[in-house]
Order: sequence, then structure tokens, then C-alpha cells
Amino acid sequence: MIEKTKAPGKLRSRAWFDNPDNVDMTALYLERYLNFGLSLEELRSGKPIIGIAQTGSDLSPCNRHHLVLAERVREGIREAGGIPFEFPVHPIQETGKRPTAGLDRNLAYLGLVEVLYGYPLDGVVLTIGCDKVTPACLMAAATVNIPAVALSVGPMLNGWHKGERTGSGTIVWRARELLATGEIDELGFIKLVASSAPSTGYCNTMGTATTMNSLTEALGMSLPGSAAIPAPYRDRQQVAYETGRRIVKMVHEDLKPSDILTRDAFLNAIVVNSAIGGSTNAPIHLAAIARHVGAELSIDDWQRHGHHVPLLVNLQPAGEYLGEDYYRAGGVPAVVAELMRQGLIREDALTVNGRTIGDNCRNAVIEDERVIRPFAEPLKEEAGFIVLRGNLFDSAIMKTSVISAEFRERYLCNPDDPDAFEGPAVVFDGPEDYHARIDDPSLDITPETLMFMRGAGPIGYPGAAEVVNMRPPAYLIREGVHALPCIGDGRQSGTSGSPSILNASPEAAAMGGLALIRTGDRVRIDLKRGTADVLISDEELAERRRALAEAGGYRYPKSQTPWQAIQRSLVGQLETGAILEGAEQFQRLAQE
Ligand code: FES
Ligand code: MG
Repeated sequence: MIEKTKAPGKLRSRAWFDNPDNVDMTALYLERYLNFGLSLEELRSGKPIIGIAQTGSDLSPCNRHHLVLAERVREGIREAGGIPFEFPVHPIQETGKRPTAGLDRNLAYLGLVEVLYGYPLDGVVLTIGCDKVTPACLMAAATVNIPAVALSVGPMLNGWHKGERTGSGTIVWRARELLATGEIDELGFIKLVASSAPSTGYCNTMGTATTMNSLTEALGMSLPGSAAIPAPYRDRQQVAYETGRRIVKMVHEDLKPSDILTRDAFLNAIVVNSAIGGSTNAPIHLAAIARHVGAELSIDDWQRHGHHVPLLVNLQPAGEYLGEDYYRAGGVPAVVAELMRQGLIREDALTVNGRTIGDNCRNAVIEDERVIRPFAEPLKEEAGFIVLRGNLFDSAIMKTSVISAEFRERYLCNPDDPDAFEGPAVVFDGPEDYHARIDDPSLDITPETLMFMRGAGPIGYPGAAEVVNMRPPAYLIREGVHALPCIGDGRQSGTSGSPSILNASPEAAAMGGLALIRTGDRVRIDLKRGTADVLISDEELAERRRALAEAGGYRYPKSQTPWQAIQRSLVGQLETGAILEGAEQFQRLAQE
């Protein structure tokens, strides 16, 4: 338990509302904020002012339920002696934002930093949910470093179609195949996809949302047991109330993100990510949060601390169940407890309730072993990411937990070399090029082909597009080939079950090796050695690089909005979090 307390006179909001050194400004601040009904006594009472960073809106249906939950958060804040101030965060809807939701993560981050720093807030409740919302909020809280607690909106209820679970996002990949082969028509496609989203909340699969909300709890930034509660459940309302109560105490205890977001916390999150079968977006977002809080973390930590961890959580896309099942089986505490028994969790890492993760989770139990497997009977051994390197990129990752039996049999079947495969490349420049040409027979895509997607990184396709997982041409699907190896400098939706090699850094637009590969080149991937190389000489590669540079470099579409242009000029690569380079120099702003 933490025991420090902060004298009420030290609250940062006093500098606005009770500042004897600047009565003029104090009067002005008071005059406006009294305007919505607070009394003078209240504002000068020394009660902590608590922000509720509202990410729900009509434009962000995944987070919209926060508009309801915020009422319970307010009651909790009031009950504990705080004053709530709710304010909007720039919306980020994963599926609705063009060209990518990834583009807006850093924009929402910037906006939230300005609000947390520039207004009289002593603490904040971060209302997290849909994919990029969670890292944006945590990055901002890390930068400003006022007491902060995250409240997940929770997943949707399970989706069902003809008696089978349909998971949001994941069903789309299946439905696309059915549509491509003519087994369903357009209306059937829409109905099948919509069946996966039966209520308010975020994606019910182990996509990026469930991943990032689970990892937020594993990092210690949300109340224990809160991440997995489905959005419409009664328990979700209750934890909203408890979150409101808790943040007021955190302000009195002066418990800040920098106390919680330590290297140990990030290593715990990496271990948990392997065990839950988490999204390939997690390394990007954790790198970004770590850089903003100043914690040491590298892409190699994923291989070193995560790869050997088995897959325990049986959720789509790696498994069969969905969000409601995950909650009933025990959620994050049950997973953490199981990992703790193997000595895989750094138990002393502090969490928002003032206790360590070890104390919070030690007694948690698995309630349904079909959904959360015991460590001794995992869904898959060594389920973490592997990190690949070579002449195509400095780093890329592959999610091994989704390598299917079909894939293993087709590509990893050479008994002398069971971890390597080789084939000719077919290269696409961005998703539009892929969509236009994938079913063109003259590309001559065969089951041996390795498909490349480039021009899809943070600069090439602003924010980095989730497009690396490409379906094979329809004629191959009809022959029973459901997945070809895909490699690219973009991202992939966490709801996709493709074993792609993705997040390649540096991207083609930054003149990484992918810019130099051509259709027809042979490529060799070795999963054991962690290498990915195009089989051409160094001289030939250097010559191609020289020629491309002379021709003006790798071409990508021009920016359509001011923010696209600004972000492109500042953004780093996926390996290091794709943050606005330079922003990481600004840390612990509230302590200045
Ligand atoms: Fe928002 Fe999946 S689209 S959580
Ligand atoms: Mg996504």
C-alpha cells in the first residue's frame, strides 16, 4: 500500500481558484467556472478537481456508452469529496476515420496534453475503449503526469449467427472470403458482419481494443478486474462509480502515472499480451506510452520477455470465444494469477488502487478453463511475437499464435529446415493497388507466393494502414488456399488471424528495404533465426537504392489535410511507437 499524502494546499487547481498572489486572474477564473452552478465555497474548498476525459460521442460508437458511465463516475467523484469536470477528447473511431484511425492517435494525444496541462485539473479519469483511444489517453496522462485512472467502456456482448459466435472484426475476414467466392451476396455479407456487434461497447474479440484495455489493467492503470466487464453489464456501472471514488483518493495520495508506468509494468504487459493472444498493435502503442513516460522498452523486449509465454486465453481470432466468456472466466486477474504462479509477473509493480499487481491478483482463479486455460494446458506454446530482421527492414514482428495448421503444413513443412520458407514476391503499393489487382490472373499468384504490401507505414499512408493481412486471389481460395504469407510496412487489425510479418520499420516511404523489392524477387523467411531477406546481392540492392533516390525516392499519395502533412513531417517509425518525434522531451509537465 502506498502511504504518501499530499497536503490539500498543494493541489494544482489552487493556482487557478485560490491564488492570493494573483487575485485578478483568480477572480476571472472563478467568474467563468461559477457560471455553471458551482458555488464560490465549493471552488475554494480545496476539494480536488477531477477531469473526466470523455471519448464517447455519436462519432465513436465503441466509446459512446461512456456518456452514460460518466454519470456514475461523477457520483463516485462527488461521494469521495471531489468536483468533476467533464470535457471532450478528439474522437477516434477505428472503423470510421479516413484515411486511418492511426493518424488521429497523436492528434488526440496532443489535444489531451493541452487540456490536462492547461486547465485546473488535479486528477483525471481516462475513458478508454476503441483501439487508438486507449494509447492516446495513456500517452497524454504519462506526459502531464497528474494522477490518472483509466476506465474501460467494456466489450460488446457476444455476437451470434446461426448458433455460432460471431466476433467483431474477425467475422469480416471470413465474410470477405464467402463474398469473394459467391457463397453469400452483398446483403448476406452485411447481415453476417452486423451480427457480430449486438450491443454498445468495443469489439468483443481479442482485437486491439480488448488487448489495449487488458494491457491497461496489466500496466496497473485501471482498477483490478475492470477491463473485461462487458459494456452493458451492471458491474460496469459499479466499476465506473468505484473509479470516480478512487481518483479522488489518488490525488490525495499523489499517486501519478510515473509511479505506475515503470519498466516492470511494461514487461508485465508484454507477458500478458502473449498469454491473451494480444494484437500486433500493442508493441507500437506500448512503445509510445513508454517513451512519453521515459521508461526503457525496446522491440527486442517483446521477443525476450514475450515469445516463450504460452497462449492461455481462448478468444477469437486465435481461439473460439468472445468478450462475455472472457469476463465470466475471470478476465485479466485470472490470467495474471496464472502467470504469477510461474514466476512470470513482476509482482511488486504498483497499480492505481495503491496496491501491487501481485496483491491484487494473487487469489484470482480461473472460472472456466475452456476460455482461460491453465498454464499446463495452453492453447499454444511460445505464443508471443517474434522479431524479424534482414535486408528488407531493421525490424518487423510476427504473431505466432495465429499460425494455422494449414499454414504450418504448407510453408513450414521442410523437415531439414522446419522454420524457414522461400518464395517469389508479388508487391503491392498501398491498399488501393492491392484491391485493384488482387484477382488479376496475370499476377500469377500461386500458393508459393509471398505477398508484399508497402507504402502503408506511418508516413506512406498517414497513420499506417491496417492492410498487411491480404486475402489470396479468389481462385486460390476456391482451391482451399486461405492464407498466403503477407509482409508489409503497415499494420494489421488485431481482429485478423493472419500470421503476417508486419510493422516493418523503416517503411518504404522512409526508404527502408521494402522500397527496393520487386515482383518476382525471391524472398527467404527464417522464423528460428528471425531473418527476412530478399535473395539478391548487396551490390544489386545498393544499385536499386541509388536509382530510386535519383528518381526522387519512393512515391506515396500527397497529404489531404493539414494534420496529415504535419504528422508526416514529425512522425517516427512503428518500431519506436510512431510518436511525434521530439514530443517525448516533454515529460512530467504538472511537476514543473
Ligand atoms: Fe472500435 Fe473495434 S472498432 S473497438
Ligand atoms: Mg484496428
